Amino acid sequence: MKQRPRRLRRTESIRSLVRENNLNTSDLIRPVFAAAGKSQPEEIPSMADCYHYPVEYLPGALAEPVELGLEAILLFGVPEIRDSEASRAYATDGITQRAVKKIKNTYPGLTVITDVCLCAFMDHGHCGVVRGDRIDNDASLKLLGRVARSHAAAGADFVAPSDMMDGRVNYIRSQLDENGHTDTGIISYSAKYASSLYGPFRNAADSAPEFGDRCSYQMDPGNAREALKEVRLDVKEGADIVMVKPALAYLDVIRRVKLEIDRPLAAYNVSGEYAMIKAAANAGYADEKELMFETTLSIKRAGADLIITYWADELLKLVAN
Ligand code: PBG
Ligand code: ZN
Repeated sequence: MKQRPRRLRRTESIRSLVRENNLNTSDLIRPVFAAAGKSQPEEIPSMADCYHYPVEYLPGALAEPVELGLEAILLFGVPEIRDSEASRAYATDGITQRAVKKIKNTYPGLTVITDVCLCAFMDHGHCGVVRGDRIDNDASLKLLGRVARSHAAAGADFVAPSDMMDGRVNYIRSQLDENGHTDTGIISYSAKYASSLYGPFRNAADSAPEFGDRCSYQMDPGNAREALKEVRLDVKEGADIVMVKPALAYLDVIRRVKLEIDRPLAAYNVSGEYAMIKAAANAGYADEKELMFETTLSIKRAGADLIITYWADELLKLVAN
């Protein structure tokens, strides 16, 4: 027998020498929830170990992960007031804008990405402007452009539109450029599927749609080829980094985008994927840290350059050196 693959598995040292993929601190993006109208951090009931933070608590919450090498956060603002124009989404003193300023003041070198969407700020919970029973694409663009501009003005390094309206990357890019924000980048949620795996997050952001669903704007789970169309459009419109979301249930899509598109690729390991593993670990079916590491590595192996994960802090502890 000339070939004995097990020779390369004999010791941990050899295994690590021939390991094809590994996680680095700079692969990880940590979601952060900044909540208006709270005086204390509050654990999010549907997402164990994740918290809603008042703005003043954000620097403290990020101290340890930044120390361990965290390079980037994805910031979600959770407002107190919702209305039919999502006016708190683009207010100068809105929750996201205040959080960006606070974080950039404390950690100027930390890359701050802001989620740009309307659902958490709209009284009806949809990601766009509602007209009758429809979502008005082009009216939504106007508001999304205002949101992106206000995040850039507050100091965001990247804006990340997650609404799935057509043409929003192009519109946001031109709005940013016309207002002097030529250095603010766009990470586009390009292939975002209409997924049940967002359940725990919607609970956290109180952003579930009041009527209907998101199937007229988010992608159909049966489609993989269409993801390439969406990603190519976003690249043409000026996206700097593209994204596939969710991650674990769409590893094939991550692979395809990686092979076809010459842009950095992010993948979002979403709240439902996180919650399933937490539940399995809590039930004693498997070890949480092992599941966390193996599944996150699978996203990297599939082709993601960047991984947005609620385990970022835990993973940093494992991979930092
Ligand atoms: C808002 C938004 C959602 C998520 C990120 N931004 C929810 C949705 O589209 O309904 C999901 C994140 C997660 O589940 O972890 N557009
Ligand atoms: Zn939304």
